[in-house]
Order: sequence, then structure tokens, then C-alpha cells
Amino acid sequence: MTDQLVEFHAKPIGVVHSPFREAQGTPIQPVYAGETQFEVELLPEYIDGLRDLAGFERIWLICWFDRAPASRLVVVPFRDSTERGLFATRAPSRPVPIGLSCVRLLEIRGNVLVCTGADILDGTPLLDIKPYVPEFDAFPKSRAGWFDHSRESRTHADGRFT
Ligand SMILES: C[S@@+](CC[C@H](N)C(=O)[O-])C[C@H]1O[C@@H](n2cnc3c(N)ncnc32)[C@H](O)[C@@H]1O
Repeated sequence: MTDQLVEFHAKPIGVVHSPFREAQGTPIQPVYAGETQFEVELLPEYIDGLRDLAGFERIWLICWFDRAPASRLVVVPFRDSTERGLFATRAPSRPVPIGLSCVRLLEIRGNVLVCTGADILDGTPLLDIKPYVPEFDAFPKSRAGWFDHSRESRTHADGRFT
């Protein structure tokens, strides 16, 4: 199998400007970020791709968590006090540290997207933007594994992944 896998390089399409300079204290998901605004700056060469995006209330931001420490395959996630398999968590430290954030899109000004819902550090490279489509993306009654039983109610990061 390994000879079927190739390494690849990805060039960011932009950068996130958020009020959060360090992981500790940053919301752990957009839903806990309140109304604080942040900006997503797209490289000008991609601006034509923003056409029709303003009609979407929410968008997915796919980011590269550039300051995440080396990954471990078993972690104690923010919302638990028990070790869990990494792939059953949303921990930022991963073999391929991709973050997936569903944020609210307020406005598009040229190549800048004004949003709320940052759980992303300032300066984080942006890999992609996709529209959030409730028909595709919302399954509110789905089982959520250990999250369904967790008694931890943390909403902002502590220092465990720094
Ligand atoms: C729990 S992760 C969730 C991210 C995304 N919503 C997801 O589910 O993939 C969010 C945390 O990642 C950390 N983080 C955000 N941007 C980062 C970056 N550029 N490098 C390292 N850690 C980052 C912050 O501690 C933030 O609270």
C-alpha cells in the first residue's frame, strides 16, 4: 500500500487574521467564539473564485495548523479527561494538521472575508474555502461517540496542545 501513497506539497491560498495569538484561551470550536469578528485574506489570484459565495451564511475554512506540536495517536481531548484515539477527536495535533472550521460569513470585501467563529490562530495558513450546505453537512441527530457522554464542558483551549 505504501508505494501507492505519494507525498505532496500544498500552497496556501490565503491567511487567517484572528485576535488569537496563542492556542491557550482560543475557542475550541467556532460555536464557542461568540460574535468576535476575524478576517480571512485570500491571495488576489484566487479572487474570481469568491463569486457567488456571499449567498452562503456559513463557510468551511480548511486550514493548516502550523503551530501544532508533534502528533500523538492517543490524546486527552479538550472535552474529556480520558485518553481517546486521535482520529476520534478534533485535537489540533495530527499527522497532517488540518483544521476544519465552520464559520459565519458576514461580508466579502474584495479578497477579504469578514467572519465570526474563529477557533484559528492569527497567521494560520488557509488551504481551502467551501460553502456550508445544511442539506449536505448537517446531521444534528447523529451519534457523537464519547462526546455524547463527556462531562467536560470546556469551551476554550488550555495548554495541552502547545
Ligand atoms: C480543537 S481545534 C478545532 C479546529 C477545527 N474546528 C477542527 O475541528 O478541525 C481548535 C484549537 O486549535 C488550536 N489552533 C488553532 N489554530 C492553530 C494553529 N495555527 N496551530 C496550532 N494550533 C492551532 C487552538 O488551541 C484552538 O483552540
